[in-house]
Amino acid sequence: MLKLLSGSASVALAGRIAESLDVELTCCDVERFPDGELVVSVGVDVRGDDVYLVQSTGPPVHEHLMEVFLLADACRRAGAVRLTAVVPYLGYARQDRRTAPGEPVSIRVIGELMAASGVDRVLVVDPHNPTVEAIFGIPVQRTTAIGVLVSALADELLDDAVVVAPDLGAVNLAEQYAAELGHPVAIMRKTRVSGEEVEVNEVIGDVRGRIPVIVDDMIATGGTIASAVHALIDTGSVEEVLVAATHGLLLAPERFEGLPLRRLVVSDTVPPPADLPLSMEVVTIAELLGEAIERLHGGRPLHELAAWR
Ligand code: R5P
Repeated sequence: MLKLLSGSASVALAGRIAESLDVELTCCDVERFPDGELVVSVGVDVRGDDVYLVQSTGPPVHEHLMEVFLLADACRRAGAVRLTAVVPYLGYARQDRRTAPGEPVSIRVIGELMAASGVDRVLVVDPHNPTVEAIFGIPVQRTTAIGVLVSALADELLDDAVVVAPDLGAVNLAEQYAAELGHPVAIMRKTRVSGEEVEVNEVIGDVRGRIPVIVDDMIATGGTIASAVHALIDTGSVEEVLVAATHGLLLAPERFEGLPLRRLVVSDTVPPPADLPLSMEVVTIAELLGEAIERLHGGRPLHELAAWR
């Protein structure tokens, strides 16, 4: 039997998934010992069940990851026959290679810990890099929010728009958006100066007089988007920018102040920050994930669900 569980990070999204699947959702108990250790409990009988545990791993990243590990162990010990961690936003995915001597490949460690704690497979939405499939020892099923975000953007038909990849890592994503929206692509070369600061080195493609639609897998501090907007305007784009990203962490919303944003659209892989001092549209991926879970439960492939490369 399919059982849907939620960790503390994704209660609202898991509720929407439960509605779309028409199944009951169990929100697992997550308490804390005085020394800060987590004490979790599944809270429902999962013996013999095909369990789907929904838990995004946005901030606080370590707490949310630890919940996945502990709840996975709890499910195994309680007799679940199969456990899929549904991790709409996979933290640490950006640390998929060593950029300097002495660094780990952190996402590999996360994959090892998931497997060691009893997770059989992981379902993710737009992971930072699809190579996570090769890095994890357990199967990774991925789907994409591009279709949902494109539907939101396409509400407003734009003449003379250009889809912009704010760095080379986003080119594939931008091409997928551009194919759906029917606009050309421009690409930026960016250098990361620090965790918060980036520099745009070059804008490749014709943005002059066009409305930019910047697309990215995630917005963390917003440094990438802010630098991209400035560089586009300096290069002669229209001073009205659209931004779409799957994961809207928005850790430093003040960076968007004063930017000429016409629309900022994200999905609900992570809960939107409270009291955001800017207008942001949040579209839900609940139906997409519901359909993905239904397919996984029934042993059907995901690739026809949402086209991805
Ligand atoms: C980086 O390669 C990612 O695709 C995003 O562009 C980046 O993580 C966004 O981070 P921030 O908003 O802090 O610039």
